[in-house]
Amino acid sequence: MHRHFHSVTSTMDVARDMAQADAPEGTLITADTQTAGRGRGSHAWYSPPERSLYLSIVLRPSLPPQHASWITMTAALTAREVAEAAAAPAVAQIKWFNDVLLNGRKVCGILVESSFLGDRMEYAVLGIGLNTNTQFDAAPLDVQERATSLAQEGDHAPYDRADILARLLDSFSARYTRLLTQRFSPAEEYARHVATLGQSVRINTGSEVIEGLAQRIGEDGALTILTTSGERRVGFGEILP
Ligand code: BTN
Repeated sequence: MHRHFHSVTSTMDVARDMAQADAPEGTLITADTQTAGRGRGSHAWYSPPERSLYLSIVLRPSLPPQHASWITMTAALTAREVAEAAAAPAVAQIKWFNDVLLNGRKVCGILVESSFLGDRMEYAVLGIGLNTNTQFDAAPLDVQERATSLAQEGDHAPYDRADILARLLDSFSARYTRLLTQRFSPAEEYARHVATLGQSVRINTGSEVIEGLAQRIGEDGALTILTTSGERRVGFGEILP
């Protein structure tokens, strides 16, 4: 099922409400604009009308809760692949944990909100914001400094949003099907595309800032950092600029 809206608060809200009302796996919500698009933490997601892709998909994966991060990694790999193919020769990389960079600037953000019932995942809502044709002149300053779009980096502007959506869905569906049948962590492929491995990083986990050398990605997507007091595994967080 695909429902498209001109304007919503956030496709995450609509998809979550539908998931709670038993919407089936694969239900897709798209919108031309969001009045309260959100990112991780307290970040807003810049969602100007009809410029970019704002979508959420209801998933009901038969995965244990500890593998929820596999979905984020699968979505990041999908968006990276689509962004790089659309904007070649621009280089697309993953910024741990859930961002896709094009030529070093953020082109896509991924948000997974899951609901658990005991030891199983009831549903997960996968949200993807892919900056397709957005220009950032009117965006908040911090967004202007860090964001980009396919149109800003690639040679084929303006991009056809429907075409990019179709590519995203095809690629995600193939990867997701493989994930569920093979039940194999995408971490190895994911790690090959992570921008910051081998570099010094500062990570805000929400409760502290950890500083050190980014060493490797575990099968759950956690990042191991070598700090002055030894190795730390960080499950999630935001790499600070
Ligand atoms: C992040 O980078 O912190 C995640 C951004 C996720 C943005 C997308 S846009 C579609 C969906 N609806 C939202 O409100 N957020 C996600």
